[in-house]
Amino acid sequence: MTDILVINGPNLNMFGMSEPQIYGAETLADYEAKIEALCAELGVSCQFFQSNHEGELVTSIQNAALPDSPGTAKAIVINAAAYTHTSVALRDALSLFSGPKIEVHVSNVMKREAFRHESYISAVCDGIIIGLGVNSYLMAVRAVTDQLKQI
Ligand code: DQA
Repeated sequence: MTDILVINGPNLNMFGMSEPQIYGAETLADYEAKIEALCAELGVSCQFFQSNHEGELVTSIQNAALPDSPGTAKAIVINAAAYTHTSVALRDALSLFSGPKIEVHVSNVMKREAFRHESYISAVCDGIIIGLGVNSYLMAVRAVTDQLKQI
């Protein structure tokens, strides 16, 4: 079982290429390398999952929740990207995951278009970290690691 599953939603595989003025120049691989290094420092294991497909994201969360799945995880850090603002299915899947879970966004969605101000998943997550680039993920990893130590 992995400690922390880091899930990235649609288009985040294009980090570094799409809208660098908003998302910066780093690629998803750069992000994952920094997250992995922090996890090693904190002594926790992590796995990454990225998909452009809503159903695959739902399945990854279900697998994290299932006790005997290769995808079982103790905690989730999720950037659901555009599905944040639309997906009841992701919200329902996150609801059935009982471990610590934190929603992250690279950009400050509150400074952007009004449709990005609503999140379908915030209410079922333990916390939200937005607008800090890769640090949104790194802070979330630190937070869920602390939560796991308290369980
Ligand atoms: C995002 C914000 C979303 O509104 C957008 O659709 C993304 C990226 C972020 O990390 O800032 O794809 O989740």
